[in-house]
Amino acid sequence: MAPSSRLFAAARPARIPRIPQHYRYLSTSRLLATPPPLHDPPRGNDPQTLSRQPPPAPPQDQEHVQSNTASASFLGTSKRLPEFSLTDKVVLVSGAAQGLGLVQAEALLEAGATVYALDRKSEPSPDFERIQKRAAEELGTTLYYKQIDVREVEGLNRIIEQIGDQHGRLDGLLAAAGIQQEVPALEYTAKDVNTMLEVNVTGVFMTAQAAAKQMIRFGNRGSIVMIASMSAQIANRGLICPAYNASKAGVVQLARNLASEWGEYGIRVNTISPGYIVTAMVEELFKKFPDRKRDWPTQNMLGQLSKPEQYRGAAVFLLSEASSFMTAADMKVDGGHSAW
Ligand SMILES: NC(=O)c1ccc[n+]([C@@H]2O[C@H](COP(=O)([O-])OP(=O)(O)OC[C@H]3O[C@@H](n4cnc5c(N)ncnc54)[C@H](O)[C@@H]3O)[C@@H](O)[C@H]2O)c1
Repeated sequence: MAPSSRLFAAARPARIPRIPQHYRYLSTSRLLATPPPLHDPPRGNDPQTLSRQPPPAPPQDQEHVQSNTASASFLGTSKRLPEFSLTDKVVLVSGAAQGLGLVQAEALLEAGATVYALDRKSEPSPDFERIQKRAAEELGTTLYYKQIDVREVEGLNRIIEQIGDQHGRLDGLLAAAGIQQEVPALEYTAKDVNTMLEVNVTGVFMTAQAAAKQMIRFGNRGSIVMIASMSAQIANRGLICPAYNASKAGVVQLARNLASEWGEYGIRVNTISPGYIVTAMVEELFKKFPDRKRDWPTQNMLGQLSKPEQYRGAAVFLLSEASSFMTAADMKVDGGHSAW
């Protein structure tokens, strides 16, 4: 297979879809005809411009405390680690059409945030619709979808500014959009290296910049989290992707510099460095290279591969006040892989 065709996520800008004018969607959330439109999703509560306290613990709290038959911990409520609450916060997640970004977006919604998914795909994965519906009906918040390629800097700024205008605030960004490509170093073309760096470094940088501009405009501080990789620190055994690894090292360093410049505005910038995650993309890879499914788990201290769900807590922690004194840091979540 030609190296360029091995891009896991093609770097071509996606086609802008025509948005149908009318959808029949009942307030009872029963679908009549077509599914709810991504760009005008079922709505939960809008974030408030004035800061509210974290929600009180649910009524079962007292009952659980007394009966001791069920857990009495309701994380993120007023009495149980309220600093984890993202109630009323507006958070962007790039690359949230699928994979890690989407799973982390759901965690942010559960913590109370209004979330905007930004992705180049014209349609997100089927799971997106389930989460969008759950946000409105079960979590009292809203998941929006905006199609944008992070390399389209003007459009990116326009969309993020509009989000700021709409809510009068912007509190967080989780930059998960990224591509991966396996090509031996001797065969890599300059064009492919540039594409990798354009998406994984410049794209992340420009997304962070657009978000920081809004955070500074509203003066409400903020938290920026960028998804790097354990591959920022190591050369992966048996996985040949020199440009990807260099790009992720770039993300880790970028975070330190952005943190040093934006700390004065109360904006924190950190990275998460995951180990191997079994996303749809990696499942496909295992079909082609079954030996990797066997070998990769043996390369970390826990003897297993990770699931996207194992990064939910890291996203909520870094985007919330729970990490308010943490900036310029890289949080490694790799089962000890890179420490061996
Ligand atoms: N899967 C792993 O094992 C692993 C390990 C470490 C780090 N990561 C990183 O985690 C992040 C998410 O990875 P994933 O496994 O969920 O991959 P994925 O391919 O399933 O998801 C990436 C998403 O980013 C979007 N995207 C790609 N290029 C874009 C662009 N130019 N503009 C806007 N959106 C764009 C894609 O459309 C896709 O929805 C990536 O940054 C990846 O490098 C993944």
